[in-house]
Amino acid sequence: MKFYITTPLYYVNGSPHIGHSYTNIACDALARFKRLQGADVLFTTGTDEHGQKIKESAEARGMEPKVFVDSVVPVFKTLWERLNISYDEFIRTTEKRHTDVVQKILEMFYKNGDLYEGEYSGWYCTPCESFWTKMQLVDGNCPDCKRPAEQIKEKNFFFRLSKYQKWLVEYINSHEDFILPIIRRNEILSFLKGPLNDLCVSRPKSRLSWGIKIPFSEDHVTYVWFDALINYISVCGYGDDTARFKRFWPADVHMIGKDILRPHTVYWPIMLHAAGLEPPKTVFAHGWWKIGENKMSKSRGNIVNPTEMISRFGVDAYRFFLLKEVPFGMDGSFSESALISRINSDLANDLGNLLNRTLSMVEKYFSGILPERRNLKDIDEITRALIDKAKALESDITQAMDRIDFSQALGAVWNLINMSNKFIEQKAPWRLSKMGRIDELKDMMYDLYEVLRIISVALWAFLPETSDRMVSQLGLTAKKYSSKDFSWGLARSGTKIAKDKPLFPRIENIGD
Ligand code: MSP
Repeated sequence: MKFYITTPLYYVNGSPHIGHSYTNIACDALARFKRLQGADVLFTTGTDEHGQKIKESAEARGMEPKVFVDSVVPVFKTLWERLNISYDEFIRTTEKRHTDVVQKILEMFYKNGDLYEGEYSGWYCTPCESFWTKMQLVDGNCPDCKRPAEQIKEKNFFFRLSKYQKWLVEYINSHEDFILPIIRRNEILSFLKGPLNDLCVSRPKSRLSWGIKIPFSEDHVTYVWFDALINYISVCGYGDDTARFKRFWPADVHMIGKDILRPHTVYWPIMLHAAGLEPPKTVFAHGWWKIGENKMSKSRGNIVNPTEMISRFGVDAYRFFLLKEVPFGMDGSFSESALISRINSDLANDLGNLLNRTLSMVEKYFSGILPERRNLKDIDEITRALIDKAKALESDITQAMDRIDFSQALGAVWNLINMSNKFIEQKAPWRLSKMGRIDELKDMMYDLYEVLRIISVALWAFLPETSDRMVSQLGLTAKKYSSKDFSWGLARSGTKIAKDKPLFPRIENIGD
């Protein structure tokens, strides 16, 4: 089983923010979970380095574009490392392995007539790198970002999107999982009810020189979106390593934000089809993080910096908040107080306490050594329910992950955590100890330990650092997990636990 998952390529004209980290954390959780299930995973990310915006940012710093992008890429890579993003490949659109493929595709389309020369006259939004007709502008501004658009007239190369419009509509209609969630699918189908204009895929060098050369024109470079989309095939060996390409293409999931749906679900499948390739199986568009009720923007000065969040609250608290707070696909509202209350309730109170209480009891009653459990024949109802819940965890998570629903997947883990905390209250181990019912106490400690071990396996996909910390407190060593590790009864009596600091200390000082 293979699984190929991609993130968008991020523009390197600024520092990474919450939005970038969101997509990468989501992809990381899915990639890790698929690995855990035994899939041969290819998880790719990278940077989008051409175009007007990048050139302007470089100029503003008095730098050559390539020197500028070289200086920003490490900032992204460092953040991904801090966030434990387990990508397999990082691709930059300035790499030769990518530019070669872009030129190859341009040549192919030019030869077969899908690319033609024409004159473009209309409106252009530089920040969005998008063309608009006068009708589409809103008060002279770009309908997407609301900034002023400029009028331009120039000779360019066009890709025949219009020729493939009917094919695309049929494709979307016959492939239910191609665009998810369904609201985004409907959005694109309704957009495709109008006529599709051909796509301008070049920029005259007189206006923009920072782009991939068009092999058959001295005067043009490639439009940044046409260039960047191609990364999804250049990164996995198209035109270079055929065996690898055949293994991984089509991609299983292109994860994107809802704002870049159109290039991914209109231009890209048509480009692939015109090149004789299959579209990706799923393009999943997630929602946006707002700050309170507001859009995040430089001018508002409310941009959430992931590095700052991680250093104040820890990597896994940040990962947890983003994955758990909103159903994937919907918009979310970020605030420090919401993050802090998740840390205090779900992480410190529910998970942290469960580990802490259990290990304290193993220390107190059994000198820190995991006791033996009697056989499972005559167990009471609440114990049976707990063990059944633990045994069902992998399949509960799988069901949620198959729908790309991280919040639900974590919900399944937290149901088990909450049930275990309740189990402790119901069984009142302190009473068992007082009454000298040691066998029951042993069984109970074993069961709680085993639940925690299974939870640590599950959390490896979502909160890798926490998973490792749990494992070491359980007296085990972290390893490469597989589905087998979810099985009940693998804990070995005699294991010496290594209780340590609480996983998530409570944060008393509520911020904003
Ligand atoms: N370079 C293009 C993508 C090319 S893919 C072949 C691009 N880059 S970007 O850096 O501007 O944005 C990358 C991603 O960040 C998008 O998926 C976008 O949706 C996401 N986000 C940007 N701001 C966001 C939020 N406030 N919240 C969530 N995600 C948002 O577009």
